[in-house]
Amino acid sequence: MFPDPWLDRWLPLIRERAAGRPVLEVGCGHGDDTVTLVAAGLAVIGFDLSRTAVTVARLRAPAARITCRDVRDPLPEAASDLGVVIASLSLHYFPGVRPSASSPGCARRSGRMASSRAA
Ligand SMILES: C[S@@+](CC[C@H](N)C(=O)[O-])C[C@H]1O[C@@H](n2cnc3c(N)ncnc32)[C@H](O)[C@@H]1O
Repeated sequence: MFPDPWLDRWLPLIRERAAGRPVLEVGCGHGDDTVTLVAAGLAVIGFDLSRTAVTVARLRAPAARITCRDVRDPLPEAASDLGVVIASLSLHYFPGVRPSASSPGCARRSGRMASSRAA
């Protein structure tokens, strides 16, 4: 929960690609990026495996729709017309996992894959 401006430079592109559709945040953690995305006026659907992280992220970004779920589970029902998918510092924590959020189905549903940041 420390300020990290990495996402700032991508916001114009994310806004353009989202085109009013929601941004899906995979493994949102404590909501550092969720806060940034919501403050930028984007509709955010996020999820994380950790109940604690979800509780904190909901408190920090109440406008986002955040649920507790495993990346291997089906995507949230609300994630049906996505503009952008973001997975910051998360996908590489899932060894041997083929996350539904990076599947061709999700790509088709979202149309675009914007960012998967690794450390
Ligand atoms: C390093 S944190 C990154 C959090 C946030 N994206 C950020 O950049 O601040 C990785 C996150 O992935 C979540 N995670 C780990 N395994 C997961 C899984 N199977 N499904 C969903 N989230 C998972 C962890 O709970 C953790 O919050």
